[in-house]
Amino acid sequence: MFHPLQVREIERLTDDAVAVTFAVPPELRAAFRHTPGQHIALRRSVDGQEIRRTYSICTPATDQPVLVLRVGIRLVEDGAFSTYALKELAVGDTVDVMAPAGRFTLEPRPGRFVGIVGGSGITPVLSIAATLLAQQPDARFCLIRSDRTAASTMFLEEVADLKDRYPQRFQLIHTLSREEQQAGLPSGRLDEARLRSLLPALLKIDSVDGWYLCGPYGLVQGAERALRAIDVPRTHIHEEIFHIDNGTPTAPAAATPAHSTVTATLDGRSGSWPVHDSESLLEAVLRNRADAPYACKGGVCGTCRAFLVSGEVRMDRNFALESDEVDAGYVLACQSHPVTEKVELDFDR
Ligand code: FES
Repeated sequence: MFHPLQVREIERLTDDAVAVTFAVPPELRAAFRHTPGQHIALRRSVDGQEIRRTYSICTPATDQPVLVLRVGIRLVEDGAFSTYALKELAVGDTVDVMAPAGRFTLEPRPGRFVGIVGGSGITPVLSIAATLLAQQPDARFCLIRSDRTAASTMFLEEVADLKDRYPQRFQLIHTLSREEQQAGLPSGRLDEARLRSLLPALLKIDSVDGWYLCGPYGLVQGAERALRAIDVPRTHIHEEIFHIDNGTPTAPAAATPAHSTVTATLDGRSGSWPVHDSESLLEAVLRNRADAPYACKGGVCGTCRAFLVSGEVRMDRNFALESDEVDAGYVLACQSHPVTEKVELDFDR
């Protein structure tokens, strides 16, 4: 469900990125409580077409009740929402904002945690690290971040502040791919080969309780392969991917039945509708229930997660659900196509 929130502040972070702060009125403060790492979906209408995008919350989840929410937005080429946010959005404007969601989260607990991030992937990890270090005196966080240049690096000050505040518990490795750095600092891209040699030299791998990978598809996939190669269990790895492009691999198409029906339960009400050729289950539900939850429609944000009560589906791609959620029977409705003639989804579970 969307709520109108007023823009309190817009701060330019780099040439192509801003932090937008929304004021949260008293009656919505419970709805906008968030777990560090979550994101919010923003909505606007252009020429009668609705555009939704999700952006990660960068503010720590330490201030409850939530008085403000701050998100990082980087300009994406031809990005309908990011262009608007950077060029038109002004303090005092009202934006429709969905309550925080997402499972790329860390509830603060003692232990050692590592973030491997690229570009705007710093946004949720900043909230995760800041909340953890503030709330858990026994926790440590190592941030390995990769950016093109120092000038294009988002949240430089906020990260430097964590270093000053927690010199014993926060470690920062910052690599720049397009810039020579001062002596002693690594430069170049954070790819799989680099991480495989860097990580064991930097950390005692089996003492790490959780790995948080966030950024473009290539970086996250390379980091995951590097971690698996040094025997990090899959259950310790958490991923969030930004910028899915059309070249990203999808599951091979499978035969879909000529006539199929989806039954969906949403907010306690159920209905059954036909699924048209090649459309996703989300599209079939949306034609009949405009309140069906979604944001990215790209398999990334997880807003459309539903429980598959019966039947079988094929997902084009999934960058949002952890393997234990898939094993438990959850699917992304925006990526799912029916394999059986009848499919039943429950969005309320
Ligand atoms: S709407 Fe984002 S994963 Fe389906």
